[in-house]
Amino acid sequence: MATMESLIGLVNRIQRACTVLGDYGGDSALPTLWEALPSVVVVGGQSSGKSSVLESIVGRDFLPRGSGIVTRRPLVLQLQKTEQGLQEYAEFLHMPKKRVTDFFVNLTLIDLPGLTKVAIEGQPESIVQDIENMVRSYVEKPNCIILAITPANQDIATSDAIKIAREVDPKGERTFGVLTKLDLMDKGTNALEVLEGRSYRLQHPWVGIVNRSQADINKNVDMIAARQREREFFATSPDYGHLSSKMGSEYLAKLLSKHLESVIKARIPGIASLINRSIDELEAELDHLGRPVAIDAGAQLYTILELCRAFDQIFKEHLDGGRPGGDR
Ligand code: GDP
Ligand code: NA
Ligand code: MG
Repeated sequence: MATMESLIGLVNRIQRACTVLGDYGGDSALPTLWEALPSVVVVGGQSSGKSSVLESIVGRDFLPRGSGIVTRRPLVLQLQKTEQGLQEYAEFLHMPKKRVTDFFVNLTLIDLPGLTKVAIEGQPESIVQDIENMVRSYVEKPNCIILAITPANQDIATSDAIKIAREVDPKGERTFGVLTKLDLMDKGTNALEVLEGRSYRLQHPWVGIVNRSQADINKNVDMIAARQREREFFATSPDYGHLSSKMGSEYLAKLLSKHLESVIKARIPGIASLINRSIDELEAELDHLGRPVAIDAGAQLYTILELCRAFDQIFKEHLDGGRPGGDR
């Protein structure tokens, strides 16, 4: 199974291929495919643990998080793989152009503002609906993978995340139910009805999570220690012990990687055939110019052609020896 890191590397290369061809302007369908690559979005009520979950999936601290800290606009996080490993940078959506010029964009994670039920002092009445509309504009896109964050110390029937996910993804094909705050449930109660899929069934299994508490954040408990404690919580729990291998943020990250891998692989043949078509076009154009080419335009085309061939090779490797581009 691919790791989050190797997947990010793959998405990175695909996006670069699409960009190169997009710049060349050979095929108008390419930007569409590029857009079609999956992004992961966290949705839920305020303080449900959205930012915490996003961080534990990646295994790094980088988001504004904590009680009283509210994400007011979508925080778009793009992960890129470099020689040093994973690197992340956050970017605000009010600078959309930035995304187009920074083409090492690969896996996109989006931390959305929390859904609310009432406007607080000083906010316009429309805020509740405005936030909901904005969240919906993200989650309704078919390429969006939804992490529906639901705190275990609240009734799942009132989960804002599940309500909106059900609306845009009724079959639950791209929704992952994430139950946070399992450590904060009332004594004598447990979340087995939800975790075992009896309360609300999704295609993907529900995953229970124990993130850092506010006290942990205040004490600067780091990610490694937090994950260790989360593992212990499940391993030693009388209620969840039997599920412990399928609980926690590391398992959620694995599940998500596996899903992303299958989504990306399913898209590769389409991208590869477009690239092959572009190779044909480029070759025809080069023939027309005459080879070897001395003029700049020809040299540039030749470089693009070489890149396309390299990507074609990568696609073939990732399809387990298949021939994505058809007979060439
Ligand atoms: P967001 O507003 O949905 O992004 O939520 P945050 O990730 O900022 O978390 C809100 C508060 O809930 C913070 O104080 C977190 O420490 C706390 N929190 C989140 N998840 C858990 C959890 O699983 N257990 C506990 N005890 N606290 C959590
Ligand atoms: Na918060
Ligand atoms: Mg947040």
